[in-house]
Amino acid sequence: MGRLVGKVAIVTGAARGIGAGIVERLVEEGAAVVLGDARADLGAATAARLGAVFCACDVAREADVAGIVALTVERFGQLDAFVQNAGIFPMHDVEDIPVEEWDRVLAVNLRGCFLAAKHALPIMKRQRGGRLVFTSSITGPRVVPPQHAHYAASKAGINGLIRAVALEAAPFGITVNGVEPGNIMTEGVQTERSPEYIAAMQASIPMGRLGSVRDVANAVLFLVSDEAGYVTGTTIVVDGGQILPESRA
Ligand SMILES: NC(=O)c1ccc[n+]([C@@H]2O[C@H](COP(=O)([O-])OP(=O)(O)OC[C@H]3O[C@@H](n4cnc5c(N)ncnc54)[C@H](O)[C@@H]3O)[C@@H](O)[C@H]2O)c1
Repeated sequence: MGRLVGKVAIVTGAARGIGAGIVERLVEEGAAVVLGDARADLGAATAARLGAVFCACDVAREADVAGIVALTVERFGQLDAFVQNAGIFPMHDVEDIPVEEWDRVLAVNLRGCFLAAKHALPIMKRQRGGRLVFTSSITGPRVVPPQHAHYAASKAGINGLIRAVALEAAPFGITVNGVEPGNIMTEGVQTERSPEYIAAMQASIPMGRLGSVRDVANAVLFLVSDEAGYVTGTTIVVDGGQILPESRA
């Protein structure tokens, strides 16, 4: 307890699921947290429950991302960590992906991380320190199930973005990293994926269970903590060993 006392963090895509788990974990450790989400009703309720400040924010929109950074600095006078976690994961075979859906997945998942970096970095450079953490995925960077072409492209793109931004930010004492969750049981997975899909994923995980939001939040906590000060440009895989098997036997 208390590892983040005096720190101020933004967590986006946090009305529910992994993001809400990250907010809970950072608040537990003493951080002041601004919770951003495109869903105002649920976001405000989650923020109130977890002791965070809510700010309506669609991470695909530059004005919204600039707005959540401005609100945070106005309210708390500093910004120590920006965790861009918002992501969407519709499924279609490649030839059936509407161009609008392709664009939206890239806009939320990948552009959202770029906008977080673009608007947090000027503040963090002034402070001579800060942490950017993006929620990537094992899907794209390591493995891929069918019907995830746009999602996989967006998450592989995040890993490239992490390295590019980390290089530019390093001289200012700012670290840029990501987490790559495997299959984590969240509201989004429960509503967007079939029970058969979830059962097949569970069967493929050496640890025999889907991950919890806390499993991911603990990795994010490390990356935003002082202990991770010399870790940059990389990702932590949080997947119960899911990417390890060389064969199905
Ligand atoms: N759950 C998993 O198995 C899993 C695995 C790997 C990666 N991820 C990634 O973790 C992140 C969170 O996933 P989850 O399972 O918790 O999802 P979820 O659907 O349960 O929650 C996502 C939250 O993001 C919000 N959101 C969606 N679009 C937004 C936007 N444009 N701007 C701001 N907020 C927005 C939603 O309102 C929701 O509150 C995503 O980036 C996802 O790709 C999830």
